Amino acid sequence: MAETAQKIIKINLAELLQILNEAYAEEWLAYYQYWLGAKLAAGQMRTSISAEFTEHAKEELEHADMLANRIIQLGGTPVLNPDDWSKIAKCKYEAPQEEDTITLVTQNLASERCAVGRYQNICDLCFGKDYETFSISAHILKEELEHEQEMEDFLKDMDLTKKIS
Ligand SMILES: [Fe+2]
Ligand SMILES: [Fe+2]
Ligand SMILES: [Fe+2]
Repeated sequence: MAETAQKIIKINLAELLQILNEAYAEEWLAYYQYWLGAKLAAGQMRTSISAEFTEHAKEELEHADMLANRIIQLGGTPVLNPDDWSKIAKCKYEAPQEEDTITLVTQNLASERCAVGRYQNICDLCFGKDYETFSISAHILKEELEHEQEMEDFLKDMDLTKKIS
């Protein structure tokens, strides 16, 4: 714990730590969803979608890393037991329903939209009150928006491919 980290924020610490731990749990679930999806993916645009999923898995893990560091800096403890990830996550893990790329991308798009809302909310909460958490959340928000856009683009491309074939 960094002593000043707790002192300078103008938000309820317990509430903030709870929210950061929810986001932290969600990132591990997002990581696994992409990591597994990259291996299962079959069908249209498999090679490029699988590569993008692998890259996003890496980025979700980086988000988990940033959140864990911030939680510790604030004197909290990142979720200790993976059993609790699903319990505290508000953005839920979407177990792959099918292995085809359209289903997987559609499921990941839904997850990304939830993640965008999550970081928009953390930014709103921290704006002007906790600059460091704001900065971390704004960075993650930027990447979640990119992820959302890329999932939308894949679906659009697959739809167009279907129309011309
Ligand atoms: Fe993320
Ligand atoms: Fe994401
Ligand atoms: Fe990407």
